[in-house]
Amino acid sequence: MLKKGKDFLTLLDIDSEELGKILYLTEKAKKKDISQYKNILSEKNIGMIFEKPSTRTRVSFEVAINELGGKPLYLSSRDLQLKRGETISDTAKTLSRYLDGIVIRAYSHLDVKELADNASIPVINALTDMYHPCQALADLFTIKEKKREIKNVKIGYLGDGNNVCHSLMIGAVMSGADIIIACPHGYEPETDIYEASREIADNNECKITITHDPRIAALDSDVIYTDVWVSMGQEESREEKEGAFSSFQVNQNLMSIAKNDAIFMHCLPAHRGEEVISEVIDGESSVVFDQAENRLHTQIALLIYMWS
Ligand code: CP
Ligand code: NVA
Repeated sequence: MLKKGKDFLTLLDIDSEELGKILYLTEKAKKKDISQYKNILSEKNIGMIFEKPSTRTRVSFEVAINELGGKPLYLSSRDLQLKRGETISDTAKTLSRYLDGIVIRAYSHLDVKELADNASIPVINALTDMYHPCQALADLFTIKEKKREIKNVKIGYLGDGNNVCHSLMIGAVMSGADIIIACPHGYEPETDIYEASREIADNNECKITITHDPRIAALDSDVIYTDVWVSMGQEESREEKEGAFSSFQVNQNLMSIAKNDAIFMHCLPAHRGEEVISEVIDGESSVVFDQAENRLHTQIALLIYMWS
């Protein structure tokens, strides 16, 4: 359970009810109906440690923190003593003496967990190798906005069983949606995350399907979702992945077997001509920029939820 002062490292840190509350607050944030929370972060300094590049997450968090009266401090991991071998634990304990919260994007989820375990202030995961929970909040809100309900929606995810896929899978079943994940052999989601999600799915009467056939994920789906084939930090595997993933490209053939009103989603940044062709991502069914905008609203909601 996410209580005041706790961390948000994965959607597994919250339950379906809390997720519903964050999505409800998002609706209010998007309508600018959050005047009572306007100063919730007043006199609060939120550190933002980034080991990897970011456009959406970094900028939307900075804007969200400002909107709630707080001060974001961008901390490039290159310039911290961490880079010179200071331990994660000493860093966490030191930063806890200055800051009121930490947003962190890192290569290793275990490092983020260690930071959170040693910090006395809340830590928010802004993407690791395993999870991207803030992205999933925006994904779920976008599905709700476009399809009215998340429950019973059929989500087809095509591509790598990666951080974005893991968080989307957890969020989908927490919300009662069915998710079909199509990935090449060897690129399936992590077994323990799949098992945890399947347990939630069983309780919520929805289903997770893992397949190696992209057509099964696309067929009759309400949402077609993809992410890059090569995530940050995996650049050396580009050649191997391009070969394995070529038949998972989202193109008009795959979109044509989804429902007529299916939407196309992507967390961005996208590589046109790889995981998706421009006719799809720049076409009528694409909602990728609404989805990107919703990063801001969901993060405002998350900050309100964590600090109120
Ligand atoms: N989707 C996402 O997290 O984008 P950035 O890498 O630009 O933050
Ligand atoms: N899977 C991608 C997501 C980028 C937002 C990565 O980790 O690079």
